Amino acid sequence: MSKRIEVSDLNVYYGDFLAVEGVSLEIAPRSVTAFIGPSGCGKSTFLRTLNRMHEVIAGARVEGSVLLDGEDLYAQGVDPVLVRRQIGMVFQRPNPFPTMSIRENVLAGVLLNNARMSKSDQDGLVERSLRGANLWNEVKDRLNLPGSGLSGGQQQRLCIARAIAVSPDVVLMDEPCSALDPISTLAIEDLIEELKQEYTIVIVTHNMQQAARVSDRTAFFNIAGTGKPGRLIEYDDTTQIFSNPSVQATEDYVSGRFG
Ligand SMILES: Nc1ncnc2c1ncn2[C@@H]1O[C@H](COP(=O)(O)OP(=O)(O)OP(=O)(O)O)[C@@H](O)[C@H]1O
Ligand SMILES: [Mg+2]
Repeated sequence: MSKRIEVSDLNVYYGDFLAVEGVSLEIAPRSVTAFIGPSGCGKSTFLRTLNRMHEVIAGARVEGSVLLDGEDLYAQGVDPVLVRRQIGMVFQRPNPFPTMSIRENVLAGVLLNNARMSKSDQDGLVERSLRGANLWNEVKDRLNLPGSGLSGGQQQRLCIARAIAVSPDVVLMDEPCSALDPISTLAIEDLIEELKQEYTIVIVTHNMQQAARVSDRTAFFNIAGTGKPGRLIEYDDTTQIFSNPSVQATEDYVSGRFG
């Protein structure tokens, strides 16, 4: 089930270093939101605060709030492991578990929570997840072979299948296509378009065409200089950001004048 994200006044720290400052934004369910901005402006850092992955780093912390359908992810007593199950993540480099088969990769997250799932339920879930990730037809005859034997684009779709197998509400993707060729990139973009019927999707990308193609809303982050915190500069409908942004820095960035 797709859910709404509401971020208020978020400051994100690594120890004493304020990496991202004062971000407030709302992300609607069943939508794709792109985060863009120059290297080091805090896109990945901010993305990881949305499922409490940020705090796995020693000294890392946040101030402010992140609500998922009104529930504060950072409230006392909230289990970060459950948060990460509701809000899945796909990384830049496809990272299937190397010793596991394709089938085991899809089931990895699910079996952590429900180790006694029947074989037939597992089979159904593997097929549904791989179909959801547009990978089923390519792998259905080799489900028991290692996930690491797939092409890069297939591995990334396997990681997406693994992420959606646990029925998350939100899927976060940090430059999911940056290690992929153009054909695989288009396959992932098509998939994102389909996934948004069921999930809230947030994607970090350096590819302006990609942001323009896949997202409904775009958030532009920027940084005033080394050691300064990243900030959210402009957040609007993607068509607006790319055709008629209201901030000069956004215009400069999307037209390729810097970054
Ligand atoms: N684990 C960490 N410990 C300390 N500082 C970090 C850590 N990870 C990132 N930073 C710092 O936080 C700031 C934001 O980094 P982040 O990786 O979020 O940027 P980004 O916008 O994702 O950049 P890129 O486009 O290059 O991926 C940078 O100054 C970076 O050096
Ligand atoms: Mg990054």
